Amino acid sequence: MLITVEPDERGIARAAAVLRSGGLVAFPTETVYGLGADALNADAVRRIFTAKGRPSTDPLIVHVASLDEVPALVRSMPDLVHALAARFWPGPLTLILPKSPVVPDEVTAGLDTVALRVPNHPVARRLLAAASLPVAAPSANLFSRPSPTRPEHVLEDLSDRIDMLIAGGPTTVGVESTVLDLATGVPTILRPGAVTLEMLREVVPTVRVRDTRTDAGEPLRSPGLLSRHYAPRAPLTLYEGSAARVLARILRDAHAAAAEGKRVGIVAADDDPIHGFSVVRVGPEGELDRVAATLYSALRQLDADRVDLILVRGFPTLSGLGMAIQDRLRRAAAGHIVVLPD
Ligand code: TXA
Ligand code: MG
Repeated sequence: MLITVEPDERGIARAAAVLRSGGLVAFPTETVYGLGADALNADAVRRIFTAKGRPSTDPLIVHVASLDEVPALVRSMPDLVHALAARFWPGPLTLILPKSPVVPDEVTAGLDTVALRVPNHPVARRLLAAASLPVAAPSANLFSRPSPTRPEHVLEDLSDRIDMLIAGGPTTVGVESTVLDLATGVPTILRPGAVTLEMLREVVPTVRVRDTRTDAGEPLRSPGLLSRHYAPRAPLTLYEGSAARVLARILRDAHAAAAEGKRVGIVAADDDPIHGFSVVRVGPEGELDRVAATLYSALRQLDADRVDLILVRGFPTLSGLGMAIQDRLRRAAAGHIVVLPD
């Protein structure tokens, strides 16, 4: 049975001891809750995959206390790492670098690269300092479910599968870190996040984005990009296009489903004129940081409401967090996307 501790000095000391003895601890980061284990202990890392039901082919992110910990874990450090760390660490940016042999293959799924990040959450930072270990941590959800942004979400998914949870309240960013590949030629964003393309361009003008829709024939560079990921239990349809058209179409489809006796869940913006179904509002259309922070909670809420289907309005994608929100919604939709012309 899982032990829940408070994010105070005593709780963090207990959690650090669990990590040091090879156990599994869920803890808050600024993005989502992570499920941590000693990254240098292959048995502990294997337990992460078992607890989550995650395929062992999907590599984990190693969390460290500061840039100083990185050289011991990598084979080489491009100069770019210093510039990126100075600007974005601690923070929601994960860097893919050539791995040192000290990092077990279990962590990296046999790849010769390792994903590294310095999280920016006071509890995560104190835990890393107290444990004095690199901590491998995927999001603390069952495989393919939405990532946990509240301690309750971790309990929902993993309560009888892990040793300890540090209950640190809701996370602030709400979507997982930006993953930036520095190990192969041109720096490439493999997963968009709160460190946006525009922000990265200021430090790395050549940075490009991997088109997440061309997954099919390519080798699995970032298996988190598998389709049907971050998904609620009910089938989800995403509607992209101008707000007016999207909302009209959602209403039409919702009424049609309701007429067949289905319970309809809808993810809407605060001001959307949609009523009469299970509507969860995730923030004003233009405040994407609020939308990102609430999104996974909204999807879990609709599952708890036992809806039969979920209809989601898309959000503006042109800048900032828009790309990350669209990416996660498309994966949750697993191909059920209705694109409406303007
Ligand atoms: O915000 C986050 O990144 C959260 C918190 C807990 O830090 N963690 C997280 O971990 O989202 P996870 O395991 O759910 O996602 C890790 C992503 C996956 O898409 C994985 O495929 C990718 O990082 N990844 C890890 N190592 C990699 C590598 N060596 N090369 C390419 N992609 C890698
Ligand atoms: Mg995950």
